[in-house]
Amino acid sequence: MKLIFLGAPGAGKGTIATRLTERTGMTAVSTGDLFRAAIKNETELGLKVKAIIESGDLVPDELTVALVKERLKEETGDKGFILDGFPRTIAQADALKTFCPIDAVINFVVPDEKIIKRLSGRRLCRQCNAGYHIEYMPPKQEGICDACGGELYTRKDDSPESIQNRLSVYAEQTKPLIDYYRKEGLLIDIDGTPSPDEVCDAVCKAIAQ
Ligand code: AP5
Ligand code: MG
Repeated sequence: MKLIFLGAPGAGKGTIATRLTERTGMTAVSTGDLFRAAIKNETELGLKVKAIIESGDLVPDELTVALVKERLKEETGDKGFILDGFPRTIAQADALKTFCPIDAVINFVVPDEKIIKRLSGRRLCRQCNAGYHIEYMPPKQEGICDACGGELYTRKDDSPESIQNRLSVYAEQTKPLIDYYRKEGLLIDIDGTPSPDEVCDAVCKAIAQ
């Protein structure tokens, strides 16, 4: 199965993608994670996109589409994949159609007040990228990853200014994809406010139908 995870910043796309891959054996492809890895490794792409990502703007469509196209040429396993955070503009969605048909689009619905609390309390592991929240999913030991003992950090784009910018960019450029995919009969709305396990149950139920 080939899925798109759509939703505002902080809606839980990454958290649910991790759970769903553990349950189903699907592969998660997160454009945000691929860009952050490129920045960390100081590749040519990483140097180009660093400032854009830290400010919360979108990376140009040509670069993003090329990245996803390349990634999908590599192995994704026989259980299918989840595109987490791609497409994010109509132009990206049009481009995706030319190289990869999609089975369903999961749209995580979470109100803005919750989004801001989620993003400002998010922490990630520098080593294994596991995600935490200081209040909702705290690690056993503050600042340390439960899974690998790595150091936890706050993403640069989780600053108050970048969060506001990401929410505006989402409203202007990504939200129109909800209607785009609804018209195609692919959209499934999922309430993203219950616990991650409950949200993941709802996704599993929806895609089994
Ligand atoms: P990306 O990394 O995709 O960022 P985003 O879309 O802003 O989404 P987030 O990763 O912030 O949120 P999420 O929905 O994954 O939430 P999470 O599960 O972490 O992209 C970063 C940047 O890369 C973009 O701004 C852009 O510059 C660039 N980029 C990426 N894709 C691009 C594209 N296609 N085109 C152009 N540019 C692109 O959860 C958030 C927090 O909430 C966590 O702390 C988590 O623990 C907590 N949480 C999650 N679920 C729950 C729950 N159910 N209950 C309580 N807490 C929860
Ligand atoms: Mg994410």
